[in-house]
Amino acid sequence: MANEQTATMAAVAFEHVTKRFGDVTAIDDVNLAVEEGAFVTIIGSSGCGKTTLLKTVNALVMPDEGRVLVHGRATSKLNPIELRRSVGYAIQGSVLFPHLTVRQNIGYVPSLLNQRDRVRTHEAVEKWMDLVGLPAELAERFPAELSGGQAQRVGIARALAASPDILLMDEPFSAVDAITRTSLQDELKHIHQQTGITVLFVTHDIDEALDLGDRVLVMEGGRAVQYTTPGEVLHAPATAFVERLVTRKQSVYAR
Ligand SMILES: Nc1ncnc2c1ncn2[C@@H]1O[C@H](COP(=O)(O)OP(=O)(O)OP(=O)(O)O)[C@@H](O)[C@H]1O
Ligand SMILES: [Mg+2]
Repeated sequence: MANEQTATMAAVAFEHVTKRFGDVTAIDDVNLAVEEGAFVTIIGSSGCGKTTLLKTVNALVMPDEGRVLVHGRATSKLNPIELRRSVGYAIQGSVLFPHLTVRQNIGYVPSLLNQRDRVRTHEAVEKWMDLVGLPAELAERFPAELSGGQAQRVGIARALAASPDILLMDEPFSAVDAITRTSLQDELKHIHQQTGITVLFVTHDIDEALDLGDRVLVMEGGRAVQYTTPGEVLHAPATAFVERLVTRKQSVYAR
């Protein structure tokens, strides 16, 4: 019995999850489990439900049908504030607190948790700035004084500094140049390996999806149409959209 429980205890499990907005079915009967420590990349055309699916994990969206389990517990049964403490969320064009410095933004959650231990918060901020590749001299700047790529790093550091078990990332590297992007990808891979955190990462970039994910989820029209290894997606993409992305990639490599 104990074994059975361990075997079924995914970090995140979607059980026949459906979400509608009026006439639009944003999520259509999604049924899959994300293993503890997995790095899942999510790809599909615009409007296919990627962001909505992520938001069901931290209860920003509640399913109309089915349920989402986080470490075996239904989001409908969890206190959303507590849930969001263990589930980090880094979104595109990350919304930093404009009136707080970089240090205060990253230290926001740690300072709530360690109210009597400011040194600990200070150390956590230094550690995460270093890990996401932010120079220490940016610590006292305000968000308006950062480049787009720096602001994205601050958003990622802030999400990570809260020590989440699960990290939701919605096209987090979309606004940065190719070189910054590659270094952020490398840093994220490194952080994932170091911390064993479970990552759900939405991207429009097939290279990023195949390179970062140990599982790739392909979505179309709200449905999860493929959930498998990068190699399998490359050889047998489940949708015309992903096939086009993959074909372009294959033709580039063939040149
Ligand atoms: N709050 C909302 N109210 C009404 N419709 C919504 C809402 N949120 C999402 N939708 C609709 O649900 C569908 C899925 O949206 P979602 O944002 O999940 O797509 P996405 O895959 O993240 O797209 P993109 O790649 O453009 O970010 C879309 O048709 C969208 O218009
Ligand atoms: Mg989206």
